[in-house]
Amino acid sequence: AGPIHEALSPLKWMIGKWRSVSADGFYPTIQPFSFCEEISFTSVGQPILNYSSLSWHPVKQSPMHLESGFLRIKPGTNDVSFMVAHNFGLTTLEEGMTYIINSSVAGNVLQMKSTNIGRMSFGKEPRVLEIIRCYKLVEEGKLEHTLQMATSNTPLCQHLRVVYEKC
Ligand code: HEM
Repeated sequence: AGPIHEALSPLKWMIGKWRSVSADGFYPTIQPFSFCEEISFTSVGQPILNYSSLSWHPVKQSPMHLESGFLRIKPGTNDVSFMVAHNFGLTTLEEGMTYIINSSVAGNVLQMKSTNIGRMSFGKEPRVLEIIRCYKLVEEGKLEHTLQMATSNTPLCQHLRVVYEKC
């Protein structure tokens, strides 16, 4: 990792590589499932974190959902923008902010909501209409990620809950 840009100080708590200790998926239209995931937020010195997520099947080990993108911060603020390309033909732009819910050991939160969703012409139905994501440092070295989505068939419902440990 390179030097950390000072604009990133509100996001310092997310920097690094994280490996799931539990990762569960659900949605009203599908059978609940589990998966494994590794995510990383890395700095190359810009006021940006480079993001990647790889998930794989817990038994077959085959790749599942893959994401790649950038988490940007508006320098001098806690406002962020998260640009993500998903392997199934979706792009999402999510915006929100990072804040602290309590000043003890952990309590850092990053809360974002989609402001733009792109979809390739031959993408599968249903269409994703909205995403709400939350990353939360639940204790030192332990990160929780929850994701809700709305599709053209289903109102906003939880799709993922993942707990990661710092690698
Ligand atoms: C199903 C979107 C992340 C695994 C779905 C569906 C959508 C979707 C639209 C179809 C729901 C339906 O048929 O009603 C998304 C979005 C994600 C995301 C927007 C991230 C922002 C993930 C991740 C995994 C995952 C990280 C981990 C492996 C699955 C599985 C299904 C599914 C296994 C059911 C099988 C299938 O339809 O392919 N997801 N997903 N998703 N998702 Fe996700």
